[in-house]
Amino acid sequence: MSTAADMKSVAFLLLVVLTDGVSCDVCTYQDVLDYLNLTTSNNVFKLTRPVLDHRHTTVVKLNIILFAILGVVEKTQTFVPFVWSLTRWNNERISWNPDKFCGISQISVPKNLLWKPDLLIFEMIQKDDSPQVQTLIISYDGTVSMDENLRVFSTCHMDVHKFPFDTQECNISISSANHCIDEMRIIPISNSTRATQFSHQVIRTQGEWEFLHLTVSSQNFSFDERKWEMVTYAFTIKRRPLLHVINFLLPVLFFLALDLASFFIADYRGEKLSFKVTVLLSISVLLLILNEILPSMSNKTPLIATYCIVIFALMLVSLLETILVTYLMDKDSQEKLNHECSWRDKSNQVNTKSCEEENKGQTCCSRICTMSDGEEQHELLPVVEEGNNGIHTPESNTLLSILEELKKLQTALFLHLNCRKKQGNSSCWARRINRAFFIFYLITVLLFLSFIFREWNS
Ligand SMILES: *[C@@H]1O[C@H](CO)[C@@H](O)[C@H](O)[C@H]1NC(C)=O
Ligand SMILES: *[C@@H]1O[C@H](CO)[C@@H](O)[C@H](O)[C@H]1NC(C)=O
Ligand SMILES: *[C@@H]1O[C@H](CO)[C@@H](O)[C@H](O)[C@H]1NC(C)=O
Ligand SMILES: *[C@@H]1O[C@H](CO)[C@@H](O)[C@H](O)[C@H]1NC(C)=O
Repeated sequence: MSTAADMKSVAFLLLVVLTDGVSCDVCTYQDVLDYLNLTTSNNVFKLTRPVLDHRHTTVVKLNIILFAILGVVEKTQTFVPFVWSLTRWNNERISWNPDKFCGISQISVPKNLLWKPDLLIFEMIQKDDSPQVQTLIISYDGTVSMDENLRVFSTCHMDVHKFPFDTQECNISISSANHCIDEMRIIPISNSTRATQFSHQVIRTQGEWEFLHLTVSSQNFSFDERKWEMVTYAFTIKRRPLLHVINFLLPVLFFLALDLASFFIADYRGEKLSFKVTVLLSISVLLLILNEILPSMSNKTPLIATYCIVIFALMLVSLLETILVTYLMDKDSQEKLNHECSWRDKSNQVNTKSCEEENKGQTCCSRICTMSDGEEQHELLPVVEEGNNGIHTPESNTLLSILEELKKLQTALFLHLNCRKKQGNSSCWARRINRAFFIFYLITVLLFLSFIFREWNS
């Protein structure tokens, strides 16, 4: 009884399936095209906006996803993203019942068979000649989907004030070229969150730039009393600064450190001067690199230019200060030398000319000191000489060694005092200037660096 009922229901189900699924034996895509009368010679589908009533609006849905950042050129202010765009609109002339065509719900057809929306990218400055997908897909309900891979050469206003720690925002604005808002609407499919998420998933190459987010917005603009709808995709990208830091910022800092360290080179012969000039020249070589990487146009002076110029200026000032100090020291030693020579002329009948040949202050000073040291020895400590000839008791030996020590001490003291006394007025000034300038220089450098790095960070 129950088996018979089961058999009956199974048979019924089978019948339903048979009558529903196998209404026709074989269907081809061409059957659908024939049904639609969609042929290459049929211009009905190509020429005009596909609406059956001219008051109908064509709604174009748009999705744009970033695939790669192919180039960002600050000098020409161009941004070249590689995007994937999906456009979807409704063609009122197309519709069929999939049930009548073995369930065929969509067909792909060549692009040139159908009308396509005349979308325009405002920022695009160069035609894209990369290979394109040549087909689009039509659905039974009249929805047409078109995929495109676009290399967009777009113009983008870039602000390089914070180079190389900058973030840029470049827009791609899409609107219809001819159809105003009551004829065509353009609606983004994904919101900003979704578009950003999707772009992060598919992005392949980023190179120097890191993709941060994609913001989708839509606005209406009017022109000649007509209104258009425009969808704007704003790509926010951030530069990876590492290369520029290693290539440029750090070397400049190193040279600055070298310049600071050069204050500890004791110099009376101009070695310090040549060292500083070398460091300054190295910085100017780096400035050439900067010229290559930085675009000339910018409303505000780029921070990196300020960084370079101020450091260059600081080093220049320090070089000038060294020149001044060297000059003062030179002048002093010259005076001393003249004084010494006239003194020697009187006492020793030494030729002034021979003295001028060795006209370097430091050697002259030390020579004078050692010379006078030798002379004074005999006069100041005659006891030692005499004591050397006497009897050697342990006490006298101890005394002698103490005397020896005292003698050394006296000599050193005398040498020191003599040299201090002989050091001239301008030499003293040079020392003071040097010390004060070093402190000033160090403070300025620290203040400036903290200022500029704070600016870069903000
Ligand atoms: C199909 O298109 C051709 C060419 O435009 C036309 O001559 C023909 O009448 C159309 N057939 C139907 C059924 O619409
Ligand atoms: C990009 O588009 C946004 C939103 O429409 C706008 O606020 C911004 O100024 C545009 N940026 C540029 C560089 O045109
Ligand atoms: C964006 O769209 C996703 C789904 O596509 C939705 O979950 C999310 O809430 C939307 N975000 C905003 C800010 O509208
Ligand atoms: C643009 O105009 C359309 C139709 O008038 C309106 O629905 C839409 O909200 C407008 N969009 C904006 C951003 O004002």
